[in-house]
Amino acid sequence: NGLLTYDPGFRSTASCQSAITYIDGDAGQLLYRGYPIEELAASCSFSEVAHLLMYGELPTAEELTGFQRNINDHNLLHDQVLSFYHGFRRDAHPMAVMVGVVGALSAFYQDAQDYNRDADQHKAAIRLVAKMPAIAAASFTYSIGRPIRHPDNRLDYASNFLQMMFGKPNEPYHVDPVLAKAIELILILHADHEQNASTSTVRMAASSGANPFACIASGIATLWGPAHGGANEAVLNMLEMIGSPDRIPDIVRRAKDKNDPFRLMGFGHRVYKNYDPRAALIRDTTRQVLAHLGMENSPLMATALELERVALEDEYFIAKKLYPNVDFYSGILLRAMGFPSRMFTAVFAVARTVGWVSHWLELKRIGHGIDRPRQLYTGPTVRHLDKR
Ligand code: CMC
Repeated sequence: NGLLTYDPGFRSTASCQSAITYIDGDAGQLLYRGYPIEELAASCSFSEVAHLLMYGELPTAEELTGFQRNINDHNLLHDQVLSFYHGFRRDAHPMAVMVGVVGALSAFYQDAQDYNRDADQHKAAIRLVAKMPAIAAASFTYSIGRPIRHPDNRLDYASNFLQMMFGKPNEPYHVDPVLAKAIELILILHADHEQNASTSTVRMAASSGANPFACIASGIATLWGPAHGGANEAVLNMLEMIGSPDRIPDIVRRAKDKNDPFRLMGFGHRVYKNYDPRAALIRDTTRQVLAHLGMENSPLMATALELERVALEDEYFIAKKLYPNVDFYSGILLRAMGFPSRMFTAVFAVARTVGWVSHWLELKRIGHGIDRPRQLYTGPTVRHLDKR
């Protein structure tokens, strides 16, 4: 069909108009609603950034209080949702559990059938953002057999996530301000990234008018892959496999070998052809948190820094413009904070839920009908059963 443009992987196709996030991949610039990510990371809380992404503006003090109250009103999980966890194997991957539990929420919040009213859309978006830390934390506590801890509305969003993850049921949780700031940074940096694979999936699911909870479950499924959000877990596995800096030349050689499927995890990006600004921010915070925890000599960090140095001086990586991405250092930081590697992508999902619902709200407002890509057909031409 001469009218079709063939663009596998959507390398040069804009699938929608969006006013949420802007990336200049050559300059290594990332803006949320026009604000540089560095400025937001330095001065804002995750709740402020969530408000900015969802509603277009940073909140006034009054709006922020209202937003947080709204989150606190909706952050509990329905008692029957909690019973879902017991149907999963304890060794199930947290992302597998989250796909199931978030998808199941569509059976609980189906009251506004087609979600065409503004108020219902915003309530669904708030419910998703509010419940996601509890859903992720429960997938962890269930896996280790610890009773699920409920949200504590005296805490902010990020600290609440930490207490649900790590608080013991029989002890008050002590918030470490350095760790609380670090998780806040991780959440802010992962909150949105325009039309990445999972966000595009959410938008495509939503374009048919599907239930928002089911749409977000499809985003979680897409995020899980190692080429996308699953890369943070894969980076840690890679750094552990490398073991010590002297094995780096061999790993770099493998990454360049076209007969070897191995890739340097946490390196390269479809849009950034420069240093991912999020990677630089996470690297600096990782150093601070390691120092705070007395882990300055972390072998994982030493290996990562040396791997970055070697790769950035290598002709192959220079020519292909492959730089560390957001996932390169985040695993080291999360591990130092106590997150097991299998929870890394779940943390990403908690943060990205804000982006997903922001895109869902935008699509509900200025959608363009159902997404329906075409294809280049490569199968047989017409043939008939009686000629077999
Ligand atoms: N290690 C070695 N070679 C690489 C890498 C890498 N990490 N990334 C890309 N290349 C090479 C690739 O082999 C190809 O070479 P050639 O032109 O000779 O065929 C060239 O660079 C371009 O790669 P591509 O696969 O066409 O690029 P893409 O835009 O389709 O893929 C990517 C982007 C992120 C999937 C890829 O760089 C990759 O697999 N990186 C490792 C996984 C990773 O870190 N993912 C996290 C991405 S950021 C967070 C997120 O989006 O969730």
